[in-house]
Amino acid sequence: MLPAYLWTMKIDILTVLPELLESPLSHSILKRARDKGLLEIGVHHLRKWAVNEYGQVDDYQYGGGAGMVMMPEPLANAIESLSETTRYDEIIFMTPDGEKFQQKTANQLSLKNNLLIICGHYKGIDERIRQQYVTREISIGDYVLSGGELPAAILVDAIGRLIPGVLNDETSALFDSFQDNLLAPPVYTRPADFRGARVPGILLSGDPKKIDEWRHEESLKRTRERRPDLNAND
Ligand code: ADE
Repeated sequence: MLPAYLWTMKIDILTVLPELLESPLSHSILKRARDKGLLEIGVHHLRKWAVNEYGQVDDYQYGGGAGMVMMPEPLANAIESLSETTRYDEIIFMTPDGEKFQQKTANQLSLKNNLLIICGHYKGIDERIRQQYVTREISIGDYVLSGGELPAAILVDAIGRLIPGVLNDETSALFDSFQDNLLAPPVYTRPADFRGARVPGILLSGDPKKIDEWRHEESLKRTRERRPDLNAND
């Protein structure tokens, strides 16, 4: 039994390429989250809701032009069928013209109970599905990938590690880069002297207050130098 303050988050993913999602969702921290029962992931093959026995889920676009479009019927049937057993807080479509994915998006989504993620392919999905079912459209950056599966895996990874109880040291996600609009400070491990390059002495001082101050200063410095657009509050 999970302690009372822990809950299971459920993420369903609709895709025409489930194989692409298998590995990224089955290792490391996501594996641990699933094994601990904190995260349940359902990968659903859209072809289950295909319009014919050939497994058709896409068709030519009206008005002409290269590239197929994912048909509304299989998507609507899939969403409606999955919604019979799960009340989704968000139905997310991964698309390069969506809002840009950021740490704060991951923070918000990690507080939800049930998410449905739709992976697009080809030219995209019929606009009517976006209008009638999708509640949030997310891009992982200004470049075009061949499908929404890798973006979906990135989204699930970023969200999954924030679910309470997933990381061993519960506080460690708080110090990730981008929390508080700051990049993370540099980190070191043994040896203290690597081919003449020494670990900053303060980290060996054993003084937690001084170490915290040093880390904060380094974060500010790194953010100012590398990402002045983040507006680190100095
Ligand atoms: N599908 C294709 N490219 C994408 C991107 N950059 N973000 C989200 N989904 C996508």
